[in-house]
Amino acid sequence: MPETGEVIKNTILAEKVNCYQVYAPAIAAKRMAGQFVIVRLDEEGERIPLTIADADTAAGTITLVVQEVGKSTARMARFKVGQKFTDVVGPLGTATHIEKRGTVVVVGGGIGIAPAHPIAQALRRAGNRVISILGARSKDLVIMEAEMQKASDEVLICTDDGSYGVHGLVTDVLKGIIDKQGKPDQVFAIGPVVMMKFVSMLTKEFSIPTVVSLNPIMVDGTGMCGGCRVTIGGKTKFGCVDGPEFDGHLVDFDELVQRQAFYREQEQESLASFQHHCERHKV
Ligand SMILES: Cc1cc2nc3c(=O)[nH]c(=O)nc-3n(C[C@H](O)[C@H](O)[C@H](O)COP(=O)(O)OP(=O)(O)OC[C@H]3O[C@@H](n4cnc5c(N)ncnc54)[C@H](O)[C@@H]3O)c2cc1C
Ligand code: FES
Repeated sequence: MPETGEVIKNTILAEKVNCYQVYAPAIAAKRMAGQFVIVRLDEEGERIPLTIADADTAAGTITLVVQEVGKSTARMARFKVGQKFTDVVGPLGTATHIEKRGTVVVVGGGIGIAPAHPIAQALRRAGNRVISILGARSKDLVIMEAEMQKASDEVLICTDDGSYGVHGLVTDVLKGIIDKQGKPDQVFAIGPVVMMKFVSMLTKEFSIPTVVSLNPIMVDGTGMCGGCRVTIGGKTKFGCVDGPEFDGHLVDFDELVQRQAFYREQEQESLASFQHHCERHKV
């Protein structure tokens, strides 16, 4: 019998993107769309918030799709099947508010396609017509296409370099849907902050209710430290307990970008020293 936190599977989905099946039966049984876990790789490890992209209650596993962006995620990518994360805490955060709206467009950009997946599944189960837009820089970075096809009535793909699907941005594809099929009843957008900002600006023009999933820096994930503070409609909210999903038309995206960059120098130093260690010890 595996232990909680044990890596059951670790597969590469794209360059610097890994998909982990982690044994966590209590979380697999309770999790809902939009929720996340906080993982610590070992006793000294920092806390890494990660969205639960899927779960298998029979196998007792949760799926995490993780992009290597710094030291902790680079260390995580080196975990082998049978190794164990010291802590997997969750499910955390407020679950996605799912209701039958009619036609809902789910926009996933880059690694944001992974957290968009359980939302598309839940929206479809609730009886919505789900159109998913998957955006990436290039073809090799389009992840979870088969899973999103299964979770959606229609999937549209776009790449920045035109190597797959429409040559353009997710906002171009969304505008195309609005022009050809009329206004959808709701839009969900998950991905880079700048993408969520521009999707929200477009949908505001057309008064389409829009939900975005924010990824401020989190520490405890329980509303205690204040690290994940975001401004929504002029009011302070905590991403970990009040979110991570918020009304895209009310988010102060510029402040979020600034706060995310707060520790950039330390993050770069930490990654450089880890890479140096790996080169020296050939790991
Ligand atoms: C609710 C939530 C869900 C997330 N889900 C996913 C996911 O499913 N897949 C995925 O690849 N990433 C996800 N992230 C982002 C992920 O947590 C960070 O990429 C990771 O913590 C970076 O750690 P690092 O040491 O590798 O990089 P670092 O070098 O420490 O940081 C690189 C960048 O990652 C962000 N970051 C760093 N530490 C944190 C932190 N404690 N909390 C949030 N962001 C941080 C910052 O923007 C930073 O500039 C999520 C973040 C949040 C808040
Ligand atoms: S992560 Fe500490 S309050 Fe949200």
